[in-house]
Amino acid sequence: MNMAFNLKGRNFLSLLDFSRKEINYLLKLSEDLKDKKRAGIKGDRLEGKNIALIFEKSSTRTRCAFTVGARDEGGMPEFLGKDDIQLGKKETVADTARVLGRMFDGIQFRGFDHETVEILGEHSGVPVWNGLTDKYHPTQILGDFLTIKENFGCLEGINLTYVGDGRNNMANSLMTGSAKLGLNYTIVAPKKLHPDEDLVEECRELAEESGATITITDDPVEGVKGADALYTDVWASMGEEGDFEERIKLLKPYQVNMEMIENTGNEDVIFLHCLPAYHNTETENGQKIYEEYGIKEMEVTDEVFESKYSRVFDEAENRMHTIKAVMVATLGK
Ligand code: CP
Ligand code: NVA
Repeated sequence: MNMAFNLKGRNFLSLLDFSRKEINYLLKLSEDLKDKKRAGIKGDRLEGKNIALIFEKSSTRTRCAFTVGARDEGGMPEFLGKDDIQLGKKETVADTARVLGRMFDGIQFRGFDHETVEILGEHSGVPVWNGLTDKYHPTQILGDFLTIKENFGCLEGINLTYVGDGRNNMANSLMTGSAKLGLNYTIVAPKKLHPDEDLVEECRELAEESGATITITDDPVEGVKGADALYTDVWASMGEEGDFEERIKLLKPYQVNMEMIENTGNEDVIFLHCLPAYHNTETENGQKIYEEYGIKEMEVTDEVFESKYSRVFDEAENRMHTIKAVMVATLGK
């Protein structure tokens, strides 16, 4: 293997830490691992590796992708929920990191403060993978970009348009990934939810090297014109549930519906969502959980979610192939 792509021992905390070539290498490895899985070939590249999966927040895709991805290659994943361990409670995060690093070969962390995953990465002595923090969700971007590549055959020059909460972990991570890999990235969001200026500046500097463009606008009609991939996420992320009402007021005009799809002017546009998505979510008594806020649908209409434009389940499956690639590249043989 080319030494430039030797990622052994590296943490995977943010795409900003990886070069364009390294990210493309991870995507290529994901394709290879996906082919291998489809062919029914069992792997051994993580054989003998114990993998800790720390979750402060809940998860379906990320947890399952790490679990199945590790097992497929002979690894042994261990789920550690927020009430199972002492992380930051009776001992510091740095102490937990040093203990886990003596026992495990790799650590996944999902939680709130991005600083927590950085402390784990600094002190554990084994590869640490960010399975989502309030700031970034980098493994998701690999799954998203693999899906875009499968649809369009390339990433460079693709118009990727994110609509919704323009300052959350998804908006941030899609921006870093686009800036690195040369996509034309647009955030369409109300001014109050625009991303951090410093991060935009950093991404614009990277964009100069890769040929990407970074555009931030609050115009939900003009902003989506020419999109190849239209992306949205929940209007209030995990930990921000208290902001739902305010977000609904701010983001109502930014719902991805058929009118927005038409406004792209691109019949071949694809719809992406990291999931979980509020498009038909019901409570135990059968009430749509957002009806209490006086709206019928949230970030995406059921019509778009279930339409021919939607690639959300390819995207979800690709989480596993890409997460497996991250583990294999940083820890495997
Ligand atoms: N997209 C994603 O990270 O899903 P989970 O929250 O279910 O892991
Ligand atoms: N922005 C969402 C992403 C979920 C995968 C959240 O943080 O809840």
